[in-house]
Amino acid sequence: MSVQLVVALLALGFLSAASAPVCKELVKPLVLEDHTEIYGKWVYVMGSADHSVFQNALGTLKSSWIDLSATSDHQVVTLRWGDRIDGKCVVGATNATISGTTSTVHIHSSEHKGQYLETCPDCLQWSDTSRSGDITGRYLLLFTRSGKMDLTYLDTYKKQAECLNFPETHHTYDGETELCPDDKEKVVEKDTMEEKPTTVEKTTVEEATMEENPTTEKTTEEEKTMVEETMEENPTTEKEKITD
Ligand SMILES: *[C@@H]1O[C@H](CO)[C@@H](O)[C@H](O)[C@H]1NC(C)=O
Repeated sequence: MSVQLVVALLALGFLSAASAPVCKELVKPLVLEDHTEIYGKWVYVMGSADHSVFQNALGTLKSSWIDLSATSDHQVVTLRWGDRIDGKCVVGATNATISGTTSTVHIHSSEHKGQYLETCPDCLQWSDTSRSGDITGRYLLLFTRSGKMDLTYLDTYKKQAECLNFPETHHTYDGETELCPDDKEKVVEKDTMEEKPTTVEKTTVEEATMEENPTTEKTTEEEKTMVEETMEENPTTEKEKITD
């Protein structure tokens, strides 16, 4: 064997050995001590998918927020969302089950099973395998508290996506499209919430909070989830209720 070939093979060996540990450092499941670090409101900033149907779904997403909150069951986290899809708001809620670093969410008939990943500060990164009907694919989603992303993190995101074998096309939030209003926000405002990503008209303040009145909240949320209620820009539903 020629010396050159040996050197070349050694170099290749080093290269392939080098990329694996890099990815191991870049893609680490987030180990949740308690869940407080993931609780609260998050605004979508970037996403990738490895199935064309899911890529198209991301493509229609103009803005999106999610909200994670505790339930009485430590393993169960309530996930609410507000997606602006081609000008319409789709809101809903579901429960996610967390077991170790794995989190499982059912939304309508689809199942998302994945992990939160270690990411930038004030960021939430989610990687999953999603099953919807006979389609199976993966999502990689990045959220931040502000809806803005530190550009220095963009490279890291791209490398993570590469490590996870996602295609190179990534979808990004334009940072400008208004977020869908959050019905719950006026309740949160009663407590102290420093930062509101959206300006929701403060109409009626329902005296019921989630904990105090789970039944009514559940019904409303379930209705929303079932019908995929589309809301107009202004949250007029509350006003209509009063005038009825
Ligand atoms: C989530 O689980 C909690 C606790 O079991 C329950 O009170 C709540 O209604 C559930 N929410 C949804 C949206 O399923």
